[in-house]
Amino acid sequence: MTALSPADPAAIAAIAAIDLADQDFATRGDAEQVWALLRRERPVHWNTRPDGTGFWAVTRYHDTLRVLRDSTTFRSGQGMRLDHNPAATAAAADKLMIVADAPRHAKIRRVVASAFTPRMAARLEENMRETVRQELAAIGDGEPCDFTDVASVLPLSVICDMLGVPRADWPFMLRSTRVAFGESDSDPLERLEAHAQVLEYYQDLVAERRRRPREDVISTMAGGSVDGVPLTDEEIFLNCDGLISGGNETTRHASVGGLLALIDRPDQWRAASAAPEGLDAVADEILRFTSPAMHVLRTPCQDTEIGGQAIRAGEPVTVWMPSANRDEAVFDDPDRFDGARHPNPHLAFGMGPHHCLGATLARIELRVLFEELLRTFASGEPAGPARRLRSTLIWGYESAPVLLHRR
Ligand code: HEM
Repeated sequence: MTALSPADPAAIAAIAAIDLADQDFATRGDAEQVWALLRRERPVHWNTRPDGTGFWAVTRYHDTLRVLRDSTTFRSGQGMRLDHNPAATAAAADKLMIVADAPRHAKIRRVVASAFTPRMAARLEENMRETVRQELAAIGDGEPCDFTDVASVLPLSVICDMLGVPRADWPFMLRSTRVAFGESDSDPLERLEAHAQVLEYYQDLVAERRRRPREDVISTMAGGSVDGVPLTDEEIFLNCDGLISGGNETTRHASVGGLLALIDRPDQWRAASAAPEGLDAVADEILRFTSPAMHVLRTPCQDTEIGGQAIRAGEPVTVWMPSANRDEAVFDDPDRFDGARHPNPHLAFGMGPHHCLGATLARIELRVLFEELLRTFASGEPAGPARRLRSTLIWGYESAPVLLHRR
């Protein structure tokens, strides 16, 4: 185990009490200090769970990179998150891209990625702008609104659009997927029912696209094959779910955290408004600063080491993106939001073979949202304390009450 500074018994006691997998970890208000403590004192830490099981928690940037890049050792097929359902993961392994390993992973990924053409991105961007304008128009000047609601519409609309769900069905998909995949606490039975409705919906859409393909992701998957064998309906459904759960809450919470950061730093709000051509860099700083994908998990298939710490085959390893993205060894003054930060090699989208497939799209979403938001509103202020989301997977907000003042 990496050495602790013997002079700091308080740190030793604090580390012994840490459980990053505790559902209340994110809402207690000290997560950033805990990650900073681990980075400093125990960068590769064995986190014991109350039931006696445990996992490695990796909190430094370069160690995180090592784990994510070395997919030969650190595998995804036994689950890529804490508290996953092992039976569901086993059923999805090698079918759902995010829990597939080489060589099949790259082959599935190639099929899905082939749908992400520049033409599709241009079409999606046009529709995004329309959606954002509608959402922002509904915000009253200087009236309190919860930005987590405002920010929930765009990401799902984009995914529906990309999958090829007709616009008339977006409200149904927005409703059902919010219940089925939302990170907030909701009734498990309700979640199952909502998911069943979504699956039924995919079934009809896939059958329709097999008959009459269009320029969308479902048609691409329906026409795609791996090693000459067409993707099955099950593989298509699983990867549709993967796109929805991968691209929804993440983008939403980046938007919310981005707005809160700009409200907190009016100089940054003014700078970003004055130079919209710099919004790509602002979007990346929002991604670094908010890091909504909180951790990912890997399982080493052989004995290995990380940062000098021996790790045995089969021991779960988690990497924590909000921590890696505030590693003071890589980012100057990491707790400061700086829309002009350069370079900004953040790991919000992961790295290596599973690097986020929707990264380009998410960046466009953030740019379009903040372009329109800063064009419409001159300033903002909190309308109450923002509440963190109770989750170990998504580092985001349950609610973010704000007032926005129109230009
Ligand atoms: C993978 C984060 C938006 C689809 C990932 C991974 C991260 C991530 C960290 C790597 C997972 C791993 O290594 O196991 C984010 C963040 C987003 C975002 C922070 C927004 C701010 C999106 C969007 C989509 C999407 C908009 C879909 C349109 C995917 C898919 C994968 C993935 C399909 C799996 C890729 C693979 O396994 O090869 N994302 N994501 N993500 N993301 Fe995203």
